[in-house]
Amino acid sequence: MDKADTHPGAPAIGIEGLRKSFGDLEVLGGIDLTVARGEVVCVIGPSGSGKSTLLRCVNMLEEPSAGRISVAGAEVTDPDVDIDRVRRRIGMVFQSFNLFPHLTALDNLTIAQRRVLGRSRPEAEKVARANLVRVGLTDKEASYPAQLSGGQQQRVAIARALSMEPELMLFDEPTSALDPELVGDVLAVMRQLADEGMTMLVVTHEMSFAREVADRVVFMDEGAVVEQGAPEQVIGNPQHRRTRVFLARVLDPAAAEVGEL
Ligand SMILES: Nc1ncnc2c1ncn2[C@@H]1O[C@H](COP(=O)(O)OP(=O)(O)OP(=O)(O)O)[C@@H](O)[C@H]1O
Ligand SMILES: [Mg+2]
Repeated sequence: MDKADTHPGAPAIGIEGLRKSFGDLEVLGGIDLTVARGEVVCVIGPSGSGKSTLLRCVNMLEEPSAGRISVAGAEVTDPDVDIDRVRRRIGMVFQSFNLFPHLTALDNLTIAQRRVLGRSRPEAEKVARANLVRVGLTDKEASYPAQLSGGQQQRVAIARALSMEPELMLFDEPTSALDPELVGDVLAVMRQLADEGMTMLVVTHEMSFAREVADRVVFMDEGAVVEQGAPEQVIGNPQHRRTRVFLARVLDPAAAEVGEL
């Protein structure tokens, strides 16, 4: 059995004692977090608290300073693991879309399928078209990213990730670069994915999405998990002062400034 193989009983993501420093700056100070298969976990917290770094460690875009991370039982922090094989199982969607500007929407969806999975062009296009339908962009396959709205570009980015048939998806503030009127379409696609049973780890400032869609909300501050639980608990009835201060700022910026807390 290869170290990159999936273990049927293992959680989708297992994180133990994760630490990450950049030089002298400790950004993650020991994170323990498990995401079950099919679970939707939303990570919330102030800017600079380490949310993106946590996500980036899961697929080893950042190398942890200490700790262990496994994805479906394959330990990504094991230096001997074939990390590219594990990464193929993980879809990642960034704030800034990261589409290839010189490729059409369709080609953005087929390139990795062909290069990484070895699919033929017709096979890759079939999968790509099915995923463009899934995100509501049937008529945009010939458009270049610059010809699409931010919300459409982000849905292309989601369809691109889905075309690799990932076992889990990581989202890093997928709607925070969008104009408010474009946010809803992207969240609707994410909600649909959650309903279909996709395992999702989502960094977001969209509290209503977290409330409705997340199975669990994790509040991070200063590189640590401060509290976690059901959304109605963490967002509706937070136990820690830091969580209350953060939520007050996000949900009602004006009130937080006059110091109602
Ligand atoms: N490559 C890097 N080199 C040095 N410092 C970094 C690097 N990446 C992140 N940091 C620092 O690590 C800390 C955590 O950053 P991170 O991007 O994980 O925070 P975040 O919670 O995602 O914040 P935001 O909500 O603003 O996206 C910040 O202080 C940031 O400046
Ligand atoms: Mg971030």
